[in-house]
Amino acid sequence: MARVELTSGDQPCELKTGSRTDEAAPHVVEFKQVSKTYDPGTSKAFTAIKDVTFAVEDKPKIGEFIGILGPSGCGKSTVLRLIAGLGPQHPATTGEVLVNGAPVVAPGPDRGFVFQDYTNFPHRTVLENVAFGLECAHVPEKERLERAAEWVLKVGLDPKKDGHKFPHQLSGGMNQRVAIARSLIMHPKIILMDEPFGALDPGTRQRMQDLLVSLWRELEATVFFITHDIPEAVYLGDRVFVFSQSPGTIVHQLQVMPPDRPAREMQMEPTFLESVRHVRYLLEELERKD
Ligand SMILES: Nc1ncnc2c1ncn2[C@@H]1O[C@H](COP(=O)(O)OP(=O)(O)OP(=O)(O)O)[C@@H](O)[C@H]1O
Ligand SMILES: [Mg+2]
Repeated sequence: MARVELTSGDQPCELKTGSRTDEAAPHVVEFKQVSKTYDPGTSKAFTAIKDVTFAVEDKPKIGEFIGILGPSGCGKSTVLRLIAGLGPQHPATTGEVLVNGAPVVAPGPDRGFVFQDYTNFPHRTVLENVAFGLECAHVPEKERLERAAEWVLKVGLDPKKDGHKFPHQLSGGMNQRVAIARSLIMHPKIILMDEPFGALDPGTRQRMQDLLVSLWRELEATVFFITHDIPEAVYLGDRVFVFSQSPGTIVHQLQVMPPDRPAREMQMEPTFLESVRHVRYLLEELERKD
């Protein structure tokens, strides 16, 4: 098991991971000095991330929640899409991207992706959208619609009232609930979320945060969650990765308090606000160095 060392007091702690023994399970996700240069060998060549190195260990029956913060354009989405095996970010230019100890070669059902933009299929109903992955897996129609209805309920929608609506008849928050259900119905062990709540109002956003925490606990998955919202990262994360300006690399790995109370409650507590202030300071310091 990787050794985790805490190195500071009241503030969110900087983490160092130590060496592992040979019999340890492979990391769920590991980056070894990963760099990505777009359009290499041309006049447009651009290095988006450089020497990104981290490891997320397998925590059976818990999973880990990683919040990702960093300035716009520093390569956060690039990192997420490399884990997913989605081009043109995949493959990395140099370094190794490993999932469960094996190099990523393509997308797979073990990794679910939720994007910022509402990515539901416009000509499918809510139930048909949620059932999409099961349809691809050739699950019979009756079973897949039943399972979709269960997930529609889990994400706080009403299968009877909302199940037959189309995406254009839903609010942003409802659409994002459908997108989350569509991804999680496949029980991915790794959930990749790229600013999924970016377009929601603060109240809806906090309700979605609570929903996500409860679903994450149920699925016992590893989550990577990109956000520009510091309280959101500090609330949801077990760990927060802070990326530098482009070419992005991880400059801080912080351990923060786990989300063990409702978002509205915890986000008003002095210790929480102090953690947010500390992370904000680190980000502002990065901007000053630019
Ligand atoms: N397909 C591509 N071709 C060329 N450059 C790209 C491509 N995709 C991303 N980039 C560049 O790589 C850099 C990192 O992009 P990325 O989308 O990963 O950043 P980000 O941290 O997710 O930004 P934001 O917070 O604005 O979403 C940016 O400068 C972007 O313009
Ligand atoms: Mg992005």
